[in-house]
Amino acid sequence: MNSANDDARPVRGMRDIMGQDSSVFNTVVDTLKQVAQSHGYSHIETPILEFSSLFARSLGEDTDVVGKEMFSFADRAGQQVSLRPEGTASAVRALISNGLTQKLPQKLYYFGPMFRYDRPQKGRYRQFFQFGIENLGEGSPLSDVDVIFLANDGLTRLGIKSKLFINSIGDQPSRTAYKARLVEYFSKYETDLSEDSRRRLTTNPLRILDSKEAGDLKIVEGAPSISDFLTNDAAAFFDSVQNGLSALSIDFSLDRTLVRGLDYYDHTTFEFKTDIDDLSLAIVGGGRYNGLVEQIGGPHIPAIGLAFGIDRMMLAYDASKLVTPPLIAVLFVTKNEELYALELAQQLRKNFNVILPTDGNLAKRMKQSNSAGACCALILGEKEVAERSVTCKFLKEVQGYANGAENLVSRDALEAFFAQICQS
Ligand code: HAM
Repeated sequence: MNSANDDARPVRGMRDIMGQDSSVFNTVVDTLKQVAQSHGYSHIETPILEFSSLFARSLGEDTDVVGKEMFSFADRAGQQVSLRPEGTASAVRALISNGLTQKLPQKLYYFGPMFRYDRPQKGRYRQFFQFGIENLGEGSPLSDVDVIFLANDGLTRLGIKSKLFINSIGDQPSRTAYKARLVEYFSKYETDLSEDSRRRLTTNPLRILDSKEAGDLKIVEGAPSISDFLTNDAAAFFDSVQNGLSALSIDFSLDRTLVRGLDYYDHTTFEFKTDIDDLSLAIVGGGRYNGLVEQIGGPHIPAIGLAFGIDRMMLAYDASKLVTPPLIAVLFVTKNEELYALELAQQLRKNFNVILPTDGNLAKRMKQSNSAGACCALILGEKEVAERSVTCKFLKEVQGYANGAENLVSRDALEAFFAQICQS
């Protein structure tokens, strides 16, 4: 049992998002929703809990995410469930469980918390947020270009600078040949490899390529490249993707080691990276996953998607660009004006953001209005009620009115007055 002190702390790697962070969070998510909708994606909300076996089967038993990072537990009926570590598996499960495999393509977007028991650091949390899109049903390389274009569009609209890295991990025959060569290569260094990588030599040699162990990284540097093992079909597919990106003037670099940390990928893989302080962080990751629907029990359906990491985008977003709508405070002087104030606040809320501080004396409520960021306070005393007017006191410099300036405005003219001064 935790002590009372522990109860007042968030769980490690999890955090509250509020104040300006919350405004940035909403700006990022709202912009991505608009981008996804403008590309023809529609919203899907899937449960946060799924059977653990869904993730094990889709992401791969031998990935770090499934092997080490899932929050898994038995529910009260003894069923093994996990907090979702990502959204693609759930979107594919939903396609099958909702009988949509004959109604293709399904272009879906989702947004919400994901959970991975990773080591927390800047930009890496145990509860983090993704905005994902999944194009289920389209197999042409043009759709790869279109999906990457969407990510580029989202980042550009938010003014986030990043670099795009792409790779192809080929089709199944390309990977079979490549894996055989990797086993040959890594076997030479078997004793120097980390324990995980040694195991993966027999279970999944591709996973050694994204090992984070310092000792493995050196060996990985000299590993053969997937580009030498692509079948003609896979190479032609990847060429078309690159040509499409060039045609749209989307800059990219080839990263032959980009295999991504999840097993379901096929053909194109990509990441957008950005520098935050001295860290280079992936802010978008995605790729094609043509085998996944079949693997989860559906028919063969080609698919591609990506996820934006919202928390990292929040770090990369320039918060000084936030446009905050003006806030108006309504202040009654004595109890006698309380109802008049309430009525006025309700009237103004149809068009403006209004607070009505209720506790403490007028000075205290004026202070509260200031710290809430109100641009002006509407003061209602006996005189104002009698005249059907308000005294508007500016709490900041607004549209030519000095901080502290006072104006008597008739109640009937108030909306027109604010419409004019609230124009940004
Ligand atoms: P992912 O690369 O594992 O891909 O995650 C996508 C993005 O989520 C990352 O680029 C990163 O920005 C963010 N992210 C991941 N882990 C954390 C963390 N611990 N803390 C903060 N941010 C994090 C996927 O999850 C795939 N489902 C993407 C996809 C969709 N592929 C195809 N369709």
